[in-house]
Amino acid sequence: VLTPTTHALWHAGMSMHRFFLDADDGRFFVEGHGARVRDRAGRWYLDARSSLWNVTLGYDHPRLLRALHEQVDVLPSMQTIRFDRASAVAAKYANRLCAALPENLTHVRFGNTGSQVTSAAVLLSRYIRKIHGEPDRTGVVALNSSWHGTGGLATALTGEPDMHELQAPLVPDVMHIDPPHCPRCPEGAPPDECAEHCAAELSRLLDRVGEQRVTALIVEPLMGTRVIEGPPGYLQRLAQICHERGVHFIVDEVTTGFGRCGDLTLSGALGVQADMMLLGKGISGGYVPLAALAVDERIYQSVFDVDPARIFPHGSTTDGHPLAMAAGLAVLDILAEEDILEQVAARGDQLRRGLAELAGRQKVISDVRGRGLLFGVELTGSDGKPLGPAFLEAVRRECENDGVLLNYTGNCVTLVPPFVLTRRECDQIVETLDAVLARLVGQLEEWGEESAGNWAWERQPEAAAATRP
Ligand SMILES: Cc1ncc(COP(=O)(O)O)c(C=O)c1O
Repeated sequence: VLTPTTHALWHAGMSMHRFFLDADDGRFFVEGHGARVRDRAGRWYLDARSSLWNVTLGYDHPRLLRALHEQVDVLPSMQTIRFDRASAVAAKYANRLCAALPENLTHVRFGNTGSQVTSAAVLLSRYIRKIHGEPDRTGVVALNSSWHGTGGLATALTGEPDMHELQAPLVPDVMHIDPPHCPRCPEGAPPDECAEHCAAELSRLLDRVGEQRVTALIVEPLMGTRVIEGPPGYLQRLAQICHERGVHFIVDEVTTGFGRCGDLTLSGALGVQADMMLLGKGISGGYVPLAALAVDERIYQSVFDVDPARIFPHGSTTDGHPLAMAAGLAVLDILAEEDILEQVAARGDQLRRGLAELAGRQKVISDVRGRGLLFGVELTGSDGKPLGPAFLEAVRRECENDGVLLNYTGNCVTLVPPFVLTRRECDQIVETLDAVLARLVGQLEEWGEESAGNWAWERQPEAAAATRP
């Protein structure tokens, strides 16, 4: 029963008994400026998680705000999924976006969320097989510990056994292979030698199930979960295996794209060609929901001339929403004309240096890794085991108390600030983490068993094996 002291907002990430118990909760955010947000209690925080990795340009970028205001005044809504009409702003943005992406990506469909477009890409891949006489080529390969969103197919793609268990039965015919193990290669291979070794998992799977059964591989160029990037050449090798064996190579750049890793797209910067590319998060600076599925010209041509009764059956009412299109255009302009990517490089270097020094002082930090302005700070106990969820949650809360919002995936504190953070704010992140770790590590003895990790990926080999055909 809703009482005056409770709140109706169902926050997806928390057990409700721990959250919003008080309708006047001072923790609700009310205002943002640059890389900072203010809550109702009047406290300002440095948002080192960019809302959820998407508010790349800060909370009050003037050009982005102006673009939204101008669009809402002239055409605040229009669909792109039925009949032969769409908004002019959607057409303009599609051209601009494809011109900015790797050359082979010539057409784009829009959606509202990353989960929607990861599902759309896989469904499109299966659809292409069906209309071209390979109806049984439905298998999809994804990586353990990957994140491709939630809901239906996206949940099945995401490599999280705990989530699978809670949402089973899953959309079938998704198989998972192990991600690259760098920086903790079980074979101890140096990163520059193990691309082939890691990518061979894919070849083995294709040999086992038969490539004529597998339609696509979906992969993040740098996995957001625990900030894991394959060894040099790994992504290229996956792409090559896919191209040789006729498997669609789908790159999920929802997190890594739009400057987060220092370039418009990470796979583009690495020179890896995708058959389909997924974009989200920073694509609209996070001001309005927007995601995109960009496809290679050959993919587009393969569905161009279909019987109208057999058109790819996918889309939602607000796909290509004019406000999202206007925001997307403004973000492209801002990235092209302002020195945003230079700022990512400069602040990224500063943060990397600061975190490396911190790792020298704080023994609990076992690794610092990442690119651009996406860093993972891995926390490991003196027994060499990953620190656990309770400890990571304590780090997050203490940093919040000290004025810095951050998050974590597994035993990695993740630092994903807006690109517009200042030099001083960059230092503040490191100083805050330093102070909080010093405090909490001093109490680690008292934590005992509680500090230990019980992360899904540690149990994953068996869980993953269970999903294999
Ligand atoms: C790589 C990747 N793909 C897809 C998604 C899903 O995006 P959304 O949360 O917008 O559905 C995410 C979200 O974190 C992501 O990081």
